[in-house]
Amino acid sequence: MPTIHWKLADGQSISADVMPGMNLMQGATNAGVPGIDSECGGCLSCATCHVYVDEAWIERTGTADDNESAMLDIVTAPRLATSRLSCQITASAALDGLVVHVPGQ
Ligand code: FES
Repeated sequence: MPTIHWKLADGQSISADVMPGMNLMQGATNAGVPGIDSECGGCLSCATCHVYVDEAWIERTGTADDNESAMLDIVTAPRLATSRLSCQITASAALDGLVVHVPGQ
């Protein structure tokens, strides 16, 4: 099972195994990661699951498609080139060890 590492703005880190096929918002919620509010439950309509994919991983996660990109326009934290909505990233073996950064509050 892929292990995902969430780096928090205060320097803490939370790591958890996420079932392949599950999205990273669900994984964060299950692991109790703060700052991933997920108000829409993963239907791409709230942008409260915003993360920054670590630059070393962005080629493997890929970047946002047009629909996700439109939602990223309304995130409260600054939007960066590595911004993604974590409900749109699906855990897989290829993402084992993935590092994502949770924006500060
Ligand atoms: S949980 Fe709402 S857009 Fe990801």
